[in-house]
Amino acid sequence: MACGSCHLMNGEGHPESATTSGFTVDYFVQQMNDFRSGARNVLPMSILIKTVPELKGDQNIRNLASYFSEQKLKRGKTAGGAAATKPHRHSVSVVTARPGPP
Ligand code: HEC
Repeated sequence: MACGSCHLMNGEGHPESATTSGFTVDYFVQQMNDFRSGARNVLPMSILIKTVPELKGDQNIRNLASYFSEQKLKRGKTAGGAAATKPHRHSVSVVTARPGPP
C-alpha cells in the first residue's frame, strides 16, 4: 500500500514521517479532509491526497482510518494518540529531502 513506505505498514512511521496509528477514526478522517481542503498544508500529504487512489473518496479514507486505528504501536507510545487534539509536526526540511512517493 502506498502509505507504508513512509509510515510503515503498521503506521508506526519513521522519525520524520509521523505516526499514523493509534488515532481515532474521526481524527484520521479529519486530517485527510484538512489535507484535501488545504487547511493543513504539508508535503507530501497535500499532494498525495490528490494523487494516491487509496485516498480518493470518503469510503476509501474510512477504510484506511479503521485500518490504522487498529494497528498497535510497538514503541508503546502514540505520538498523535487517540487523545491528541493537535497533530504533531516535524521539520519540513527533513521531509523535502526525501525522494518522492513510490
Ligand atoms: C512520501 C512519504 C509519505 C507517504 C507515501 C505518505 N505519507 Fe502520510 N505523512 C508524511 C509526512 C512527512 C507526514 C507528517 C507531516 C507533518 O509533519 O505534519 C505525514 C502525515 C500523515 C498523517 C497525519 C499524522 C498526524 O500527526 O496528524 C496521516 C494521517 C497520514 N500521513 C496518512 C497517510 C496515508 C493514509 C498514506 C497513504 C495513502 C500516507 N500518509 C502516505 C509522509 C508520507
